Amino acid sequence: MKKVLPPPFRIKMVEPIRMTTAEERREALKTAGYNPFSLSSQDVYIDLLTDSGTGAMSDRQWAGLMMGDESYAGSRNFQNLERKAREIFDYQYVIPVHQGRGAEQVLFPCLIERVKGDKPVFISNYHFDTTAAHVELNGAKAINTLTPMAMDTGSWYDWKGNFDLAALEQVIEENGAKNVAAIVITVTCNSSGGQPVSMTNIRAASEIARLNKIPVVIDSARYCENAWFIKQREKGYQDKSIKEIIAEMYSYGDMLTMSAKKDPMVNIGGLLCIRDDEELLRACQVRCVPMEGFITYGGLAGRDMEALAIGLEEAMDEGMLAYRIGQVEYLGECLREGGVPIQYPTGGHAVFVDAGKVLPHIPGDQFPAQSLANELYLESGVRGVEIGSLLLGRDPKTGIQKTSSMEFLRLTIPRRVYTNDHMDYIAESLISVYQRRESIKGLTFDYEPPVLRHFTARLVPVL
Ligand code: F0G
Repeated sequence: MKKVLPPPFRIKMVEPIRMTTAEERREALKTAGYNPFSLSSQDVYIDLLTDSGTGAMSDRQWAGLMMGDESYAGSRNFQNLERKAREIFDYQYVIPVHQGRGAEQVLFPCLIERVKGDKPVFISNYHFDTTAAHVELNGAKAINTLTPMAMDTGSWYDWKGNFDLAALEQVIEENGAKNVAAIVITVTCNSSGGQPVSMTNIRAASEIARLNKIPVVIDSARYCENAWFIKQREKGYQDKSIKEIIAEMYSYGDMLTMSAKKDPMVNIGGLLCIRDDEELLRACQVRCVPMEGFITYGGLAGRDMEALAIGLEEAMDEGMLAYRIGQVEYLGECLREGGVPIQYPTGGHAVFVDAGKVLPHIPGDQFPAQSLANELYLESGVRGVEIGSLLLGRDPKTGIQKTSSMEFLRLTIPRRVYTNDHMDYIAESLISVYQRRESIKGLTFDYEPPVLRHFTARLVPVL
């Protein structure tokens, strides 16, 4: 059943968007090398590339921008941010950074340096791309131990972001605990569909870490959405506030990295927080200054830190979370009614369309999800993003395309930006593409960049 929740906000300012003609879109996509990343935003009607930095700030956040204290060191806004972050997460040390990957580039080398073995690894439910990149750029290996339930896209499972705990223990055993730099708990699990991790699973992963003396990092892009799912689905949490649930989640971690461009709804910003390890703090500070900036601004303007301090509080608003996650579910239900296969149930920030099932006649190395993204754009001006073989890339040793267990078209919903009328239009357009799916062709490379190829690749349709 489609649930329409009444929005807990009204709209005070609007940004016009332009619908293009089918002919304009054909030309634009061709010029972009059949890669939506290379489209100009002017040629996009509804932009579902990401929920990162694309949310609408509240009037209070905008007011916060006017209170910027742009002192180089010790800004008042930093103090507000530090106070708020300590209050929510109960971690003593707070370093602002320019975005999530800023926290990763500061923290990860410090964790690797502490590893006693000589083959450092990070283990996660699922490393986000930049997280895996920072692990690998620093000479360590990124290993994912996600529950296999996540791969069964058509069946309901409450916790498709969970660790496979047996796999986690086995990977620690195989690599030796002395080589494990950290266990990274990604909440929600972006790569499997914005899927939640249960409190029971977070607690169990953390216990395994403690037994093996491995630090726990919580990758916190969508921590409020994760807390909301725990409140809805996990026994014993219905009467707890989002803030209380978050406090318990973070009691199982030692540090957090955060892209604040998601749940706390700022256009730029991030955090690195450490529970109480002063030695680690000192090491991170040493890296922060040359890479991100002085330790009380980390690449952010004072005004940005103020908007973030306010966003951290607002992100926990239950009415807002219910509406936001309800909107994603609404789009998912519209698509399911039209027969379109999706990762089910929908997660927090996006509908993940199972392009492998939509286009079974297109092999992985002809990028079915990218083809579907292109067709949706041509149909409607809606830009989604491929999470599949194109993103995964080739085996660096053999040069052979890696086999992806998932071929997703991610329709990522920015926070407080689009209405359910937009959702109806997106669903109608994708259903219409779905109805002519058999005529859709795959893609092949015109230009293939050597690394992170999905951003700048140029493709051509297979004839
Ligand atoms: N961790 C997760 C789980 C993420 O989803 C992202 C970014 C990051 C870390 C890195 O944060 O972009 O602020 O440097 N995800 C965006 C996305 C880009 O579209 O899913 P960042």
